[in-house]
Order: sequence, then C-alpha cells, then structure tokens
Amino acid sequence: MCGIVGVVGNTNATDILIQGLEKLEYRGYDSAGIFVLGGAESHLVKAVGRIAELSAKTAGVEGATGIGHTRWATHGKPTEDNAHPHRSETGRFVLVHNGVIENYLEIKEEYLAGHHFKGQTDTEIAVHLIGKFAEEDGLSVLEAFKKALHIIRGSYAFALIDSENPDVIYVAKNKSPLLIGLGDGYNMVCSDAMAMIRETNQYMEIHDQELVIVKADSVQVQDYDGNRRERASYTAELDLSDIGKGTYPYYMLKEIDEQPTVMRKLIQAYTDEAGQVVVDPAIIKAVQDADRIYILAAGTSYHAGFASKKMLEELTDTPVELGISSEWGYGMPLLSQKPLFIFISQSGETADSRQVLVKANEMGIPSLTVTNVPGSTLSREANHTMLLHAGPEIAVASTKAYTAQIAALAFLAKAVGEANGNAKAQAFDLVHELSIVAQSIESTLSEKELIDSKVRDLLETTRNAFYIGRGQDYYVAMEASLKLKEISYIQCEGFAAGELKHGTIALIEDGTPVLALLSDSVLANHTRGNIQEVAARGAKVLTIAEENVAKDTDDIVLTTVHPYLSPISMVVPTQLIAYFATLHRGLDVDKPRNLAKSVTVE
Ligand code: M6R
Repeated sequence: MCGIVGVVGNTNATDILIQGLEKLEYRGYDSAGIFVLGGAESHLVKAVGRIAELSAKTAGVEGATGIGHTRWATHGKPTEDNAHPHRSETGRFVLVHNGVIENYLEIKEEYLAGHHFKGQTDTEIAVHLIGKFAEEDGLSVLEAFKKALHIIRGSYAFALIDSENPDVIYVAKNKSPLLIGLGDGYNMVCSDAMAMIRETNQYMEIHDQELVIVKADSVQVQDYDGNRRERASYTAELDLSDIGKGTYPYYMLKEIDEQPTVMRKLIQAYTDEAGQVVVDPAIIKAVQDADRIYILAAGTSYHAGFASKKMLEELTDTPVELGISSEWGYGMPLLSQKPLFIFISQSGETADSRQVLVKANEMGIPSLTVTNVPGSTLSREANHTMLLHAGPEIAVASTKAYTAQIAALAFLAKAVGEANGNAKAQAFDLVHELSIVAQSIESTLSEKELIDSKVRDLLETTRNAFYIGRGQDYYVAMEASLKLKEISYIQCEGFAAGELKHGTIALIEDGTPVLALLSDSVLANHTRGNIQEVAARGAKVLTIAEENVAKDTDDIVLTTVHPYLSPISMVVPTQLIAYFATLHRGLDVDKPRNLAKSVTVE
C-alpha cells in the first residue's frame, strides 16, 4: 500500500528518496512522486507506473531536503495529478499522505471555497487546508499544521514541507505507520524501516496523534497541543542482504525456499539449551486465564489461524474461534466471559486487525500479536507479542509467514499444554516433529521440475480451478486457492471436499482443474470419493498426498509429518503451483495487480 519517504539535510536527497521508494515497491502501488528542495529551486516529479519511470525523470533534480511517495489509489484514479506529493493553493506547502481522510469532502466545503484542485484525492484537500491556515489566516506553519490535525478525521501518516524553509520536515500520524530514521548529520522519515535501511538502522517510533519536527540535527516529538514527548531510538534488526533477491528471479521463490531455514530458526527461538520449549510465561498465563481464544486476522494469516485451531484446542484445552478482522472491527459478536484475542499478522500493520485491537483495548480484553515485524503497530499495542523470525517477506503473496505462523502457534500450544499437564502436549515432541517438517519441505523443494511440469498442462490457460480437501486439508485448500488466484488471476475456490456436491459441483465441466489435498488417514478415502465424483463429470484432477495415504497414481507425494503440522508441509507444493502457473501465464509473480503487501487502510 502507499509508502512515504523523506530526508532533511543530505545533499544526496534525490537518490535517498528514489532508493527508499524502490525498497517500498513491494508494498504495491500504481504511481509515485518526489518533491526536492535545493536552495531556491524546488522540483516536483511524478510518474504513473513503476519507480523506474519516476527515476528516469529525475535528471538534474538536486537538493538536501525532500519527500517521496508511492501511491496505491483510493480516492481517484492512478494519474499524475492524483499522485503525491500534493501542493497547497499557492504551491508553497507540499504534502505526502498514507491513509484515508474520512471528512475530506466536509473540509473542502467548509474551509476551501474558491480553491482549485488538480485531482480527486483527500490528500490535496489536507494540504490546501494547511496552506489556507498559514497563508490566508496568517498562522505559523506549526500552528497551521496543528489546527488542520485537530480538524482532520481518519487514518493518516503525513510528511509536510514548507518550500520557504528547507530545514524542516513536519510529520504527524494517526493509525497509519510512520517512523523517523536517524542518520549521521541528517534525518529521515519513512513508513517502513526497510525504506531507509541502506542509510541507517537507528529509528524512532511515532505514536498516534503525535507531531514531529524533523531537522537535520534534531527530532522533536510533541502532541497536537504542543506538549513535548521524550522518545528513545531503537536499532532495527534488518539486514540489507535480507531484503535483496540474491540470484532468485522473484522474491516469492526465494521466500518459498527459505521455509526450512525459518522452521529451524523458530526451533532456536523457542527452545532453551536443553531443547525444552520456552515461551514467555506471561503469554502462557494469558492463555491459561482465558476461557476462549479468538483469532483475528486477514487473508493468509486468517488461514494460518484455521490451520492452527485444532492443535491449539487439543493442546491448550481452550476453544478457539476465528474472526475476519474487517468484519469484527464493526460488529463484535457475543464474547465469552474471559476472552483472549490473538492477532495473526505478518506485517503487524493491517488496519482491519488494528481496528479490532483498538476495540479490544477499550474493552480491556487481553491480547497477543503473532507477527513477523517487531515494533509494528499490532505488536506495540497488544499486551504480548510472539515473533515469527521469518525475515522480511517482500513478495505480496505470503508464503514463509504462513508456515511460520502455524509453527509459532505450535510452540504456544505446546508450552501452554505442558504447563497445564495436558497429556497430548506432553507426548507431542514439537522440536523433533518440526525438524521432520523442515526435511519434508526440503524434499518438496527438490521436486520443483515435477511440479512445474504438472502445472503447465493443468493451469496455463484455464479460467478457473478448485482446491478440495477435508479437515486440515480444507484449511490448506483455502490458502492454496488464495495463493493461486492472487498472483495467477485464475478464479479459484478452496472447498471442503464433502461440500462440493451441495452446489458447487455444478461448476465442474470438461477440463475443469480440481486439485485435491490428502493428508488425513481417516478422511483421505472420503476425499478420494469426491475426486471420483468430479472426475466423472470431466474434471482434470491433480492429487497432492502425504506418503501415509498416497497411492501410485498420486501426482505429488510428500513425506508424512505430524497431523498438527501437516498444513505447513502440505501448503508448500501449492505455493509452487501458484508460482509456476503465474510464470507460465507471463505475469509478474511478486507484484500482482491491485494488491498491496501491507494493507494499511480499512
Ligand atoms: O500482514 P498481514 O498478515 O496482516 O496481512 C494480511 C493479508 O493482507 C495477507 O495475508 C494477504 O492475504 C497475503 N498477502 C496473501 O498472500
């Protein structure tokens, strides 16, 4: 989704901004722009499409202070006029913005009569409002910004420049992520530490409804009434090499391949020297105190919640309910007496989940965030955090985060179960079982050619497809179908195999691809019955089976793993299927249309 960068006090500003925007490309965007101030000269450059197109227009753009933005269209089409940065009526003030201003039309009507707007964005209205207060009403820049912030409602991260003063960037945030990067003799602003990791690993958080005055040699944090707030810096544990593609053609393939390593890192992170599972005792207590666990998440993370439900219930003796964050934010169902909310989120920034967390905090409901990003909003605002240790996930299609989420929740389930004396938890040798999972994934990864060859026939030209499975395999089918549709644009549904005959089987016709998942020794035969039903109606079937239930005729056979962990190993061939199908269809694997990596609007 939209990304923000800014720099003050470095004569290399243009390069820093462009390189920062390149690092934010993975988040998804459709246009971009920069504003650079150099002495008396200022440059506003925008382009629709990739950063490379913006970069090609920046010859001769020089200065020491600037802001930049990648835009994922919400208000108005992806055009240059709608691309950020936006200018005030006279052009003096320049603003970039992430988020959505809810009352922008009211503001336009109430304050901005006679103003001329170039595009349709809410952001342009915000910068006109600041400009009006400063230039028409005579307020200082700071007072004008503050006054606007008191009026604006919604989610935002703003970076503002007054082109008459190249020494300052003013920033403010509410609900949308924004950080200050601390350089050597200069400072930066970014919506994601990854954008500026080439320049610094020292960052400062900004909290909601804080305004920050960023100069080359100082950073001053205050609330909207001008009260100063102290803020320490922290070191971001990111490595430049983590965010490169290396020799891989696509991040998605690199991230799929990293999964065995991630499993082993999780073992390291959640065990002690004696190999015993270790989870923060406060988190164990939070689960023990709960009479019901509610998992809130979106997309792939939601599917990871489903895949972990049985394991969590059986090992912690606590019922688990799943909620789609975007639904719960506005309609909380009747809750149990002692709920615990677990938020699963790769990015830790998903606005839909944050909306629920804000409500949960207001209601005094204890919360745990399971995330890949330390210091992310969902991590900061929940009572507890468990980290995924998966390293940055750049491809829009989530792969290693999903498998890490299930593995992290397995450590939680095991730790709570052991503390409770649950017999199944005591018998579940998680470290050993997860090592088997890592090996199983490795052997699937060595079958890429086979998977590629199966996919070419089946999915190169089809318009639709189905994944089917029962039990845990149904949950994997949901994730597998999301993966396939989001990058290959094949319309794909994940179905409970037994449910097909209640309606959906009407869609099966000659040549419809049906991909069946078989891992459960009790349920596999039932799914095989459903395979017969669709095959009899002309479906082209591909089967993915674990060895314990496999037949000679199965297409892809995987090493058997512990049933609690089968969603981890079963999903890997489906990730590769999505990857190869997308390649064969000539599409960009890492940057699917319309999608953003981190969805920071509700
Ligand atoms: O960062 P989150 O895990 O909270 O993101 C939630 C979804 O937007 C995300 O899982 C999305 O469905 C994936 N990119 C799909 O691959």
